Amino acid sequence: MKITGFVGILEDITERKEQRRKIIEQQALMVHSAKLASIGEMAAGIAHEINNPLLIISGKVQQIRRAPELGKLDPDQNLAHTETTKKTVDRIAKIISGMRNFARDSSADPYTAVSVTKLLQEVVSFSVERFENQGVDLIVKVPALDFDLQCRTYQISQVLLDLLNNAFDAAVDSKNGLKPWVEISVDRRPEGKVGFRVKDSGDGVPEGLRSKIMDPFFTTKQVVKGTGLGLSISKNIIKPHSGELFLNDQHEETCFCVVLPLT
Ligand SMILES: Nc1ncnc2c1ncn2[C@@H]1O[C@H](COP(=O)(O)OP(=O)(O)OP(=O)(O)O)[C@@H](O)[C@H]1O
Ligand SMILES: [Mg+2]
Repeated sequence: MKITGFVGILEDITERKEQRRKIIEQQALMVHSAKLASIGEMAAGIAHEINNPLLIISGKVQQIRRAPELGKLDPDQNLAHTETTKKTVDRIAKIISGMRNFARDSSADPYTAVSVTKLLQEVVSFSVERFENQGVDLIVKVPALDFDLQCRTYQISQVLLDLLNNAFDAAVDSKNGLKPWVEISVDRRPEGKVGFRVKDSGDGVPEGLRSKIMDPFFTTKQVVKGTGLGLSISKNIIKPHSGELFLNDQHEETCFCVVLPLT
């Protein structure tokens, strides 16, 4: 009797283990298909997004090709056409690289320890020239005592770079008459967390748009300037880091925050 009972318990445990394995398997499948579904949803948008710049390129190339025929060989005009073509090609490249990052399975990327100060300095080094050229003050605040963060470094730099780009655009496009500035800072938070903040002197996000800004392809920028993928890709990167990305309306200025666990 006792032996039968023992076998019964063993069978019960095995069955429960099997059930748990199946649930985990199903959850993984659901995550995968949700990702595929959102890529599918985006495909229609991308077709549209890429088609417009292709039309621009096609038009410009035709104008360049027909210029000698029409006796309009104006070097300045030609330069302007080629510059528009180059900008438009860059825009397509940006859309594609954004998509690649979105679709790419980065779940196997290793988490490595990186100094938060180094991470911030590196991100800033990519942008500093553009800020200087446009007369935008860039304020960088690092903690007195540096510390390490375990993350997918490349991805987190990309998020911070996107936030800096958005802040730059907002500061430059602002009509409030202030000298444009952007501030990026990092500090240690309680409960083993790190907080990154990107603030700007721009006009802020209108109340009615706040729920939309993280949606793929939502943009208020001109066609050549924004694809509307920055924040949605960033959100997608921050989620598996068990972190948060949000617009913090507790501040007077526009302030985007990224909070991540240190390990
Ligand atoms: N700092 C900011 N100040 C004001 N509005 C912002 C700011 N950051 C983002 N937004 C708003 O959110 C929208 C979406 O931002 P997101 O980064 O996703 O796309 P984008 O900047 O328009 O294009 P992309 O990042 O692909 O070049 C922006 O078009 C803008 O309207
Ligand atoms: Mg952006």
